Amino acid sequence: MKIDAISVFPEMFDSLNQSLIGKAIENELIEFQTLNPRQFTSDVHKTVDDSPYGGGAGMVMKPEPLGKALDSLVDSDSVIIFPSPAGKLFDQATAKDLATRQHLVFVCGRYEGIDQRVVEYASTKAETLELSIGDYVINGGEMASVVMIEAISRLIPGVIGNSDSLIEESHEDGLVEYPSYTKPASWNGLDVPEVLLSGNHAEIDKWRKLQQIDRTKKNRPDLI
Ligand code: ADE
Repeated sequence: MKIDAISVFPEMFDSLNQSLIGKAIENELIEFQTLNPRQFTSDVHKTVDDSPYGGGAGMVMKPEPLGKALDSLVDSDSVIIFPSPAGKLFDQATAKDLATRQHLVFVCGRYEGIDQRVVEYASTKAETLELSIGDYVINGGEMASVVMIEAISRLIPGVIGNSDSLIEESHEDGLVEYPSYTKPASWNGLDVPEVLLSGNHAEIDKWRKLQQIDRTKKNRPDLI
């Protein structure tokens, strides 16, 4: 898969070079690149933002540099993603769908966001999504893109060594994951649940399912 991120802070994507996603980039399972829209400006200050029409706080990213950046990257097989707190909620189902695509382009806003005509323009060129990573606001689209790229990339076949670990995890069956334990069996007076030491796999499966249900009820009643 090819992933591009259009951003005025490309260094914010450096964390993707670590761990399993970093390996996948190294092994060319994922081709990841950033593109700074400042390179498509023509003024001496390389201006990418301006004050909002209609007034209000902050600055809005201008359409011309982002439009040119999109022109240089996108074809009709691309999916263009605008991270935004105003977007549709990004979830595991969206991650799974996007993991099957050929080319993703993340367009990162800073400041108060992006001139909305860029989203309209993008949707004339390729499938376009506005996606939010949660009901809170962060300072720009970069870290939201990193979160989505990690969630999507780990679902690409070959990125995670043991694909079994993708089956039994939170949100795979509408419930959150059961708790995990490792050695030692007793630590600081806290014992690993007896059933996990029993070797009885039917009982372990039953216990884990009950834990999933209890945990989901407690932490995520909205999923029940
Ligand atoms: N940019 C700022 N906040 C965001 C959020 N919650 N999701 C995606 N992009 C964002």
